[in-house]
Amino acid sequence: MKTEITSEKIIILDFGSQYTQLIARRIREAGVYSEIVPHETSFKKINEMQASGIIMSGGPESVNTKKALKFDPKILNSDLPVLGICYGMQTMAKYFGGNVDSSSKREFGHAQLTFQKAKIFQGLKSKTKNLNVWMSHGDKVTKLPKGFKKVASSKNSPIAAFENAKLKKYGFQFHPEVTHTQQGQTILKTFVRDICGCTGKWRPKNIIDSLVEDIQAQVGDKKVLLGISGGVDSSVVAALLSKAIGKNLECIFVDNGLLRKGEAEQVKKDLKRGLKLNINFSDSEKLFLKNLKGESDPEKKRKIIGKTFIDVFLKETKKLKNISFLAQGTIYPDVIESSGVKNGKAHVIKSHHNVGGLPSYLKLPLVEPLTSLFKDEVRKIGKELGLPDYLIKRHPFPGPGLAVRTLGDITKEKLEILKEADHIYMEELVKHKLYDKVSQAFAVFLPIKSVGVVGDARRYEYVIALRAAETIDFMTARAAKLDHDFLNLVSNRIINEISKVSRVVYDISSKPPATIEWE
Ligand code: XMP
Repeated sequence: MKTEITSEKIIILDFGSQYTQLIARRIREAGVYSEIVPHETSFKKINEMQASGIIMSGGPESVNTKKALKFDPKILNSDLPVLGICYGMQTMAKYFGGNVDSSSKREFGHAQLTFQKAKIFQGLKSKTKNLNVWMSHGDKVTKLPKGFKKVASSKNSPIAAFENAKLKKYGFQFHPEVTHTQQGQTILKTFVRDICGCTGKWRPKNIIDSLVEDIQAQVGDKKVLLGISGGVDSSVVAALLSKAIGKNLECIFVDNGLLRKGEAEQVKKDLKRGLKLNINFSDSEKLFLKNLKGESDPEKKRKIIGKTFIDVFLKETKKLKNISFLAQGTIYPDVIESSGVKNGKAHVIKSHHNVGGLPSYLKLPLVEPLTSLFKDEVRKIGKELGLPDYLIKRHPFPGPGLAVRTLGDITKEKLEILKEADHIYMEELVKHKLYDKVSQAFAVFLPIKSVGVVGDARRYEYVIALRAAETIDFMTARAAKLDHDFLNLVSNRIINEISKVSRVVYDISSKPPATIEWE
């Protein structure tokens, strides 16, 4: 990425907190670029990265045991502002000669924080004396290091925040990055803007300008190929590339027959006509259904879809001339997962075009413009690039599509039933303003027949299950508590409008032990 907008940069040392990525996102929301690096990263490297400030994250270990995680002490001796959060604060306390106690009980949840006048709290509204904050710790600081001032306390943590404004070193026992902490974002903003001196260059328009320049510098006047799925990431990559290289972008869209109702048409309308993208459509429903015929083993179904997708994609690619690059919608959490940041919690969603590992087949150099962005940032730049709202806010959709939502073997008839049921469910979720409130919702086709009475006749028809998950990272999830009247309405519509369905059920299982998809 062009140095101008990342010239202001906060480096986050990852000590393994579940909130590390959240810290990075919050810093960016404050208008400053942030990067996560492993806890043992040297100060020399951080300096080369031209950090404006450093945050030491929380983590599950104790600074009082042998498991205490290594870090370069030069970081704390430097002139750079450093903020330690939880484990980061304790590390700082110990290093500067304070005391950290491991004997007390773990504190988890809300706490009332009383804070004092301090540089780090200068952004808070003047009348505020107490804040409701989020705590999640075992150890706590019990003796201040020399030169440090206590600036906040709570019932269980007498030293809930400290600072040494001269050394520009600050520590919080609580988690400002978590939304449960009142004015947490204001406090983080004070750190990055007032203390680290960043001005806030990280904004959607600047990000787009910078990415466009990067793409142009990498690609020149060569042609780039992109597989689009109708999902957020590949659509944003398409819009960005189109802005950067215009007609030198060639897109391939494979309609595998496993998409939601009307999805292929929508891609045609919004991306081909709306954004004037060069899209080569491959209508391959028949081929996918032929290859899937009679197969009911979930893993085998996935493999067949992956392989068929590669075959179709390669065949389509052969029709195109002079392609020099392959574009991909890899985003920052995917990069963290595969980098040295072992403790960074990674997103599990992979984009559709990753299915089956296309790059290794095509052997083309990659263009990956989203590798420095979080999902919410991808959405923001998508909006700025003029993508329609429904597309930007779309729930994740798995690469193998409705195949993981049609249990047992797949036939066109079953898919048609599922598409209709899913469409009704989506339509009602949007109409009742519930779509944006849940993380992922969909219908599932169950290949069992259950009795229903239509008129005076008994009929044995299929069962549809509805799922709505609430989650932050898709690794754990709980079933959304959708209103009964709403579910009733959806159930009535599905049974009345689809004669092949006699029963609708709602999935209330959490992940774990269940998964989000049914497979
Ligand atoms: P599970 O079912 O494992 O799903 O709880 C977690 C998230 O991953 C999505 N998912 C996939 N996404 N290709 C994808 O692109 C896949 O093969 C795939 N399988 C599951 C799922 O929809 C959920 O968001």
